[in-house]
Amino acid sequence: MKSLGLLLAFILFGTGCYYDKAEELYPPGDCDTATVGWSATVKPILQNRCYACHNAASANVSGAGIALEPYSNLQSFLNSNSQAFLGAIQHGSGYSPMPKGGGKLSDCELLQINQWIAGGYPEN
Ligand code: HEC
Repeated sequence: MKSLGLLLAFILFGTGCYYDKAEELYPPGDCDTATVGWSATVKPILQNRCYACHNAASANVSGAGIALEPYSNLQSFLNSNSQAFLGAIQHGSGYSPMPKGGGKLSDCELLQINQWIAGGYPEN
């Protein structure tokens, strides 16, 4: 009985670590790109990873003058600089890797943002 309990504990808690890695959380093919939208998908990513430096107020202080919030500012930036936006988040050569000083976005987040931009970045 005691060893069964240990076994159960191992199964329940031991495997928890398995899910700590982004690749495990979002294995290829398990990334939701069917329902990508501004409010549900892209905005939360930017809020978590970009707006500390690129919101309307912080942009001039820590975001090199690039305001990516509110949506209208992001839209004007993308209208003229969508290549730089994608280059920065994909860590493409010739672009400043974003988020600055933080880990790269997950493959799934990159796929979702790519798709949203390719679809004309609607405010949906
Ligand atoms: C810690 C502050 C900080 C965070 C967080 C941050 N940025 Fe930046 N970003 C900057 C600064 C500063 C620059 C100016 C270039 C440089 O210093 O590397 C910049 C430049 C950029 C550029 C222009 C890059 C180029 O090469 O032309 C884009 C696009 C951009 N950021 C988008 C983002 C996005 C999208 C995120 C979130 C995924 C993000 N940034 C997160 C501070 C930040």
